[in-house]
Amino acid sequence: MKEHHHQKRTSISAALAAIYSSKLTKATALFLLLFLTYALGFLFSSSSPPQPVSQPITRRNRATSAPPNPLDEFKITTQCSPPLPSNLVRQTILDKVYNGTSPYANFPPAHVSNLLRPKRIKGWGSTGAVFGNLISRSKPKTIIEVGTFLGASAIHMAQKAQAHGLKAQILCLDDFRGWPGFQDRFKDIKMINGDVLLLYQFMQNVVYMNQTESILAVPFSTGSGLEKLCEWGIMADLIEIDAGHDFNSAWADINRAYKILRPGGVLFGHDYFTAADNRGVRRAVNLFAHINGLKVKVDGQHWVIDLA
Ligand SMILES: C[S@@+](CC[C@H](N)C(=O)[O-])C[C@H]1O[C@@H](n2cnc3c(N)ncnc32)[C@H](O)[C@@H]1O
Repeated sequence: MKEHHHQKRTSISAALAAIYSSKLTKATALFLLLFLTYALGFLFSSSSPPQPVSQPITRRNRATSAPPNPLDEFKITTQCSPPLPSNLVRQTILDKVYNGTSPYANFPPAHVSNLLRPKRIKGWGSTGAVFGNLISRSKPKTIIEVGTFLGASAIHMAQKAQAHGLKAQILCLDDFRGWPGFQDRFKDIKMINGDVLLLYQFMQNVVYMNQTESILAVPFSTGSGLEKLCEWGIMADLIEIDAGHDFNSAWADINRAYKILRPGGVLFGHDYFTAADNRGVRRAVNLFAHINGLKVKVDGQHWVIDLA
């Protein structure tokens, strides 16, 4: 390539020298000038640096150059089993959690019976109008409550469902440990060797209120419990979130619960207005709704996301 350019430059120099020596006729000189113009044009066009070729922007290179969404890291990606029919939900929990027997059989056991109160129910906003409103709207066959404590809201939901002629199964997901220091306010909930009797007092309340057929405890952390319900194919028409009120707890519970919400179901929760953890519940609910293109409604102290 270099040699080729060198030859061209040499013949141009020779032609120029001949013109200057004026030994040529006018016609020959004109021909030489035309030849020179052509030669110079050719020389400069072929020796200029290659121009970058502009690439068409295709779908593919647009997608690969898009910045990754950091929120993808927080998504719950577990695949749930196909939904179980709602009439199998109770027996599945009895089989998977209680070795096939009812936890209410022979309840209360002798070693705790004198430590329980016949009825000790306390909740927070647990009988608000929102429960009746959502039960009459969604006509749930399966309800999951995430955060139950002594069962105030669960028992209220059972009563509301019955008032609407519904036979709803309510699963109460709670580790029944309360929270560190909760016994300062609930001194009457006894403890045996470090084991606080919250689960037993909750069950006692359910027995007292005659709701053992409607309400079953799923006594695990919300994270592992919701994950298992998803794995077992247990889905709900109505899910209430009322466990940890910090952003991270509420965020994880909402995302996990959403995976086991039936199409057209309702997800709702307490403490939309609490100031705890810099309004952690509200931040989690709003972010979740925003990302999933859902609308948040408010009913009393509760937030509601209705998929209908
Ligand atoms: C505010 S209370 C629930 C009150 C109940 N919904 C009512 O209105 O009557 C919160 C409950 O969530 C439970 N909880 C909090 N964090 C939890 C977690 N990570 N796993 C399981 N239970 C949890 C506590 O044990 C407590 O009983």
